[in-house]
Amino acid sequence: MRILGIETSCDDTSVALWDSERGVVENLVSSQVDLHDRFGGVVPELASRAHLVNLLPLVDILLTRQELALRDLDGVAVTAGPGLIGALLVGLSTGKALSFAAGLPLVGIHHLEGHILANALTAALVLPAAVLVVSGGHTEVVFMERVGRYERLGATLDDAAGEAYDKTAQLLGLPYPGGPEIDRLARQGRPGRFHFPRPLLTDPRCVFSFSGLKTAVRTVVVDLPRPLEHQVLADLAHALQEAVTDVLVARLFQAAAARRVRAVYLAGGVAANSRLRERTAAEAQRHGLHHVPPDPAYCTDNAAMIAYAGWCHLAAGHRNDLTLDSFARGVITSWC
Ligand code: KG4
Ligand code: ZN
Repeated sequence: MRILGIETSCDDTSVALWDSERGVVENLVSSQVDLHDRFGGVVPELASRAHLVNLLPLVDILLTRQELALRDLDGVAVTAGPGLIGALLVGLSTGKALSFAAGLPLVGIHHLEGHILANALTAALVLPAAVLVVSGGHTEVVFMERVGRYERLGATLDDAAGEAYDKTAQLLGLPYPGGPEIDRLARQGRPGRFHFPRPLLTDPRCVFSFSGLKTAVRTVVVDLPRPLEHQVLADLAHALQEAVTDVLVARLFQAAAARRVRAVYLAGGVAANSRLRERTAAEAQRHGLHHVPPDPAYCTDNAAMIAYAGWCHLAAGHRNDLTLDSFARGVITSWC
């Protein structure tokens, strides 16, 4: 089966081709970072317009490179939500139009299911598993019994982990998106110079809170001489990354213990973070749990994960009709 995947939930326009015999054949991502950089974050209207300009040419490039016509495909999978509603609508309308024009089955994918299933693009999944979904818009722990059966165990009460990285980076005058930049700087940071709180770490519930971290960093930074020296920035990045990682790792393994899982997984853009990957791998080994870190190429937004998720749905006989709608918010739900 060949499935075309379309992902436009935020600021990356992506199309991919999943072939059930060959795996990911193409995963094209057109980044809008340069467009949003000067605003320090994604401007929704600009994102929608850029998707509109980029999406169909990307589909054309993919089909031309693979010497395929639309009718050679077996289905279209598109992110239905959650995300920026205007951005999602561009992808969804395009997906519907292509499926209608070529008579292909259509399936709408929950963005977080895509992120979770991205792990299957790296190695065969070991289930049941606890999955930490950490991105620019989400921070939650999901219990995955099998493909298609999910239970959200807890989530952030305010900002997402990626948002904490991005907003702090902006405060420090670093480029957007801040996560990769903080990750890079943190590796040159020295421990002990700064210390930030571990929000809600002692709370017995599966909850996160990251909005206070940004304020904690701001409180320290206002008293520092300007411009901030490179080593100061690196030490701040190191302290922030340690605080965020401590909380994320603690919650993931708390959930893993509560549900007696066989494996733990990371998903979403922040799953590319080197410290989170290092700590999760070490803790998984200590707890005797299976863990394979996801390929960084499939951590941030991409259509390969959507195409693969689409194949799981379609292979199970699950599909949508043209009444499929996009949604800005919505918890991941089970479909089988
Ligand atoms: O999954 P994603 O591409 O988009 C959403 O669904 O939100 O995640 C983007 C987020 C951004 O906040 C970005 O700063 C963060 O992932 N990110 C990282 C790293 N790479 C991307 N955060 C920390 N360390 C990284 N290496
Ligand atoms: Zn995402």
